[in-house]
Amino acid sequence: MSDNQHVTKSARVLAVVNQKGGVGKTTTAVNLATAIALAGRDVLVVDADPQGNLSSGVGLKGARAEGGTVYEALLTDGAPESFVLATQVERLSLMPADRGLAGAEIEMVPLPGREQRLRRVLDPLRARFDDIIIDCPPSLGLLTLNGLVAADAVLIPLHCEYFALEGLADLVSTMRRVRGALNPGLEIEGVLLTMYDDRTNLGQQVARDVREFFKEKVFDTIIPRNVRLGEAPSHGIPGVTYDPRSRGAAAYRALATELLARRAAQALPARP
Ligand SMILES: Nc1ncnc2c1ncn2[C@@H]1O[C@H](COP(=O)(O)OP(=O)(O)OP(=O)(O)O)[C@@H](O)[C@H]1O
Ligand SMILES: [Mg+2]
Repeated sequence: MSDNQHVTKSARVLAVVNQKGGVGKTTTAVNLATAIALAGRDVLVVDADPQGNLSSGVGLKGARAEGGTVYEALLTDGAPESFVLATQVERLSLMPADRGLAGAEIEMVPLPGREQRLRRVLDPLRARFDDIIIDCPPSLGLLTLNGLVAADAVLIPLHCEYFALEGLADLVSTMRRVRGALNPGLEIEGVLLTMYDDRTNLGQQVARDVREFFKEKVFDTIIPRNVRLGEAPSHGIPGVTYDPRSRGAAAYRALATELLARRAAQALPARP
């Protein structure tokens, strides 16, 4: 338990999104959250994907909090706190999900404020955490929309492969729609190059193209392809703690440092 629990916090909410599958969203959510928690901040990760990979990744596959999972969080009026579970990592909490969450995508449709159900649950939890990180599913459906409406900013992982930029126009236009209607302040926190293989020219070319397109929005930190990051989920342990000495773990720690430093720089008053 953290010693500063009585201090009221005001978490920044980050949604990890890319409707393309297998680009490293969940790996990024788990490891960035863990690295930030290890740096002494109270972090909540929210599993908004019916695949439940985030929950498995922190060793809580199939787990339910007192009030249930993200499914119940979206569809019932339980207290937000009742959907939060502690994990093995100090200062890291989880709002878990399992396959049942797939039903929410349909069951939310007739509900009032269907795009704002997650925000309704997460907003009161901002006072308890320094950071809230939402792992979105590989689609632009209602679950991802709920993530975009609940978030202050998005982090977009891009797999360093030939079609990395394909489909991003759809994501950008969805974000524009969300800004126009439900969440005008939604920002791009950053674009993250993942599974980078520096032995190939293709990886280097893709990295150049992405930087040309997203400019300074691209994090300097690049996540390399690293077997330890790939192995960690099968042990239910975040890569950052599974093998802290691996290149993958080092990269996610560097990402956490870069992200927090960028925010601190942005929070400074502009020079006259
Ligand atoms: N940097 C990396 N090096 C090696 N393997 C990785 C790396 N990042 C992710 N992986 C592996 O690649 C696969 C896809 O990663 P991940 O599950 O994080 O992607 P995702 O975008 O969340 O996928 P989905 O769209 O299905 O939710 C997983 O098996 C994961 O362990
Ligand atoms: Mg995933």
